[in-house]
Amino acid sequence: MARRRIIAGNWKMNKTPSEAVALCNELKDLVKNDAVDVVYCVPAIDIVPVAEAVKGTNVHVGAENFYIEDKGAFTGEISAPMLKEAGVEYVIIGHSERRDIFGENDILINQKVKKAFASGLTPIMCCGESLALRKAGTYKEWIARQIKWDLTDITADQVKTLVIAYEPIWAIGTGETATADQAEEVCKMIREIIADLYDQATADAVRIQYGGSMNAANAAELLSKPNIDGGLIGGASLKADFGQIVNA
Ligand code: 13P
Repeated sequence: MARRRIIAGNWKMNKTPSEAVALCNELKDLVKNDAVDVVYCVPAIDIVPVAEAVKGTNVHVGAENFYIEDKGAFTGEISAPMLKEAGVEYVIIGHSERRDIFGENDILINQKVKKAFASGLTPIMCCGESLALRKAGTYKEWIARQIKWDLTDITADQVKTLVIAYEPIWAIGTGETATADQAEEVCKMIREIIADLYDQATADAVRIQYGGSMNAANAAELLSKPNIDGGLIGGASLKADFGQIVNA
């Protein structure tokens, strides 16, 4: 089954609003590709200017985080209705930096996945193992557990529209990429887990990205693998290289 490729930038905590607009303008012609979904997941304060800057282009806007309530006394948080009104379509959930630095657990991540779907946002749901788990050889069990927890009470129809990002923590921002075979092994396993939890049609529809030091030089090989449907790109999404990844 042909799945549409999705290349998403995760800008993390980079780019002031004016820098964000400048980057959108720099990338505008480089990321043109109607066969690929292109997404910029940007810091909350950049969402409004980025949505304006990419208007009329093929670029979709994503958020890096949100909270599960619509409004109220949640100092410092941002809600799904706020994101929707600003033109956001995708939201990253469960990134390892949110898990490790900000203490998000799978219960909250599952609540966020539910809330995103209920709000009409498409989750980019992240999973992945630490170097210790990779070395211990228990990474497959770990990832299977993350997926099961994070998808609790999520329906097959919802999962068909979900994006899952496999991001081995040891490959994030380290310059060390999982080999294409290592990435494919886990992305294939994730699809099998979805087939077990739901059915084959759902597994065939869900889009699975690889993330971790993906760049202009290694993207084509990673993206050539049958179970890798796209990339979630950190560092290389902040420069012209991103255009080469979109067109890899
Ligand atoms: P890098 O591409 O900088 O390794 O970051 C990957 C990532 O964490 C994307 O979410």
